[in-house]
Amino acid sequence: MTETRSGGPSLDVVDILTADHRDMLALLGQIESTTDPAQRRDLADTVIAEVMRHAVAEEMHVYPAVKEHVPNGAQEVEHDKEEHDEIVQLMKQLEDVDAGEPRFMDLVRQLEAQLRHHANDEETDQFPQLRAHIPVEKLVDLGEKVERAKKLAPTRPHPSAPHSELFHKTVGPGVGMIDRLRDKLTGRQTS
Ligand SMILES: [Fe+2]
Ligand SMILES: [Fe+2]
Repeated sequence: MTETRSGGPSLDVVDILTADHRDMLALLGQIESTTDPAQRRDLADTVIAEVMRHAVAEEMHVYPAVKEHVPNGAQEVEHDKEEHDEIVQLMKQLEDVDAGEPRFMDLVRQLEAQLRHHANDEETDQFPQLRAHIPVEKLVDLGEKVERAKKLAPTRPHPSAPHSELFHKTVGPGVGMIDRLRDKLTGRQTS
């Protein structure tokens, strides 16, 4: 948490993304603690949507800032995007498997391990670097951009979509709109 010039507390981009990480891991924990396949499906769809929104917002606004301001940033971002790609591939498999099958929990556990590893990397490495190299006002502004991006982002995994800022800015909102329409029509739990 940081202080704005007016003295009020204001969340910066790191606060927001770190809270997202906690939320997605908590949702995965809830899947473990229920045995009802319908509930497991809903929780999995919710976590998939949360992770998609978060990852797209990072690729649009946060990774470009890492690239620009952090020493070795370009290399770190390449690594992060590779991990996002692995996470999207896993979520695609999770989307397609029946929640009553043993493979479902297997994928949930793999996703949890990957997310925990990736979030830990960001929180111990890239996020402190962002705070060290970017002024507070800009970090708060990036947080607002992230929140806006999450509202328009896709809610379903698209394994062939590129992890690029340009793609997310041009094609992404259309994909997101179709995803949300499909979510509504199929009663899919995505928020
Ligand atoms: Fe990430
Ligand atoms: Fe993240």
